Amino acid sequence: MGREFQTVLAALLKILPDYEDMLVENLVRPFILKDEDYKRLMDIMLGEFNKGLGKETNPTAKVKMYPTYVRDVPDGSENGNFLALDLGGTNFRVLLINLNGQEVTMESKIYLIPQHIMTGTGEQLFDHIAECIHKFMSNHDLLKEKIPLGFTFSFPCKQIGLNHAILTQWTKGFKCEGVEGEDVVRLLHEAIKRRGDIDVECLAVINDTVGALMSCAHSDRDCAIGLILGTGTNACYIEKLENVGLWDGDYNEPKQVMINTEWGALGDDGCLDFVKTEYDRQVDKHSINPGRQIYEKMISGMYMGEIVRLALEKLRKHGLLFGGKGSEELSTRGRFYTKYVSEIESDVDDHFKNTKQVFEELALEKYSDEDCRIAQYVCSLVSTRAAFLASVGVAALLNKMDRQDVTVAVDGSLYRFHPHFHDLMVEKIQQLVKPGMKFKLMLSHDGSGKGAAIVTAVANRLRESEKESIGENGLEN
Ligand code: BGC
Repeated sequence: MGREFQTVLAALLKILPDYEDMLVENLVRPFILKDEDYKRLMDIMLGEFNKGLGKETNPTAKVKMYPTYVRDVPDGSENGNFLALDLGGTNFRVLLINLNGQEVTMESKIYLIPQHIMTGTGEQLFDHIAECIHKFMSNHDLLKEKIPLGFTFSFPCKQIGLNHAILTQWTKGFKCEGVEGEDVVRLLHEAIKRRGDIDVECLAVINDTVGALMSCAHSDRDCAIGLILGTGTNACYIEKLENVGLWDGDYNEPKQVMINTEWGALGDDGCLDFVKTEYDRQVDKHSINPGRQIYEKMISGMYMGEIVRLALEKLRKHGLLFGGKGSEELSTRGRFYTKYVSEIESDVDDHFKNTKQVFEELALEKYSDEDCRIAQYVCSLVSTRAAFLASVGVAALLNKMDRQDVTVAVDGSLYRFHPHFHDLMVEKIQQLVKPGMKFKLMLSHDGSGKGAAIVTAVANRLRESEKESIGENGLEN
């Protein structure tokens, strides 16, 4: 081999890693959005909020801004025993909660909802729920008691009262026939009646975002936004009645109401197309609800792992990962769990302990440290984009509310377990809010149980006082 050739080869080998980096960069660049893009997205979000709130504009709006009939944060005087149901997150739970001023105790049990029920009929779903309530009550020796129940039902619902919620469409992998367009509290009561062996009445139905807000507001009066970053994503906030064109309730004090934004549906009219990547389009295409919940699909835990998997597969097919050799697992839809993203990004040194563990679980045989670095990079791009996109929504709410100090109650597995989500969000929201505005992101604990109990307690108190006044006068007030 001539000397000259050797020199050229050596030089080539030196620049090859850079060249490979460039190829990788080309394939994942669409995940990197500019500051202007985020600013533009915030303006779009704000526009959609207003469209959803307007009486005339709401019918064609995608972000529905449902008034919840929850008017105020708790005052700490709520007390008693309550049952709560939590449907719509990772697990279905039944809870027993005792409220006693600031003191809250609870017991809960997780019950599985089998896949065939998630996509079966509504009757099967609610019969299953009623059966779980029965089991829970029997295990806690409650069968002879009458305990008010709150239902955290975390799907888009048009509420027509505190205990009437009409499901508009299923999200997050649920698709039970015969429930869309129906009042889920009625379906629950019918299932309870069909059994005939439990005496339970549902007094309130809330979204998990409202639960998070209420639970956090129990100890922090500045709490005015509830945010979920878990299997799905959504936010609720406290809005002045004068801004809610849709409002059809009374205008008594407090002149405000919690609005369940259902922001996951942003983009269902194509307004996010300018930032969607080919990976997002794939995820949407193969989902149970194509064309729906576009913003949610770019952010939440149900989809994040799959976005990363698709990007890794693309890199592998281009020979830029694992020497081009994948595995059946890596090629399987849904097999790259979102928890892997958190695990991989939790590696802080060059040993890549977690990353290698994930590769092992995916039965990948050949991987180098460079592969670990690239996988980590892809995960961080996808999760950073998710955190920044969620920040756009929060900043839009903060700017809209225009209060001085706001605490945002946050719950959900994605936010809880990802090592950087919180910090990324604080950084981005800070950039997007009006100067001088102060906010805090606070982890909200057990919102779906405690929040439901608090709302139910208020509903129960109202009902009891109504009963009393009927009893006193023989007339309804
Ligand atoms: C649902 C919301 C819910 C969110 C978080 C979305 O898919 O539509 O109602 O709050 O998930 O659980």
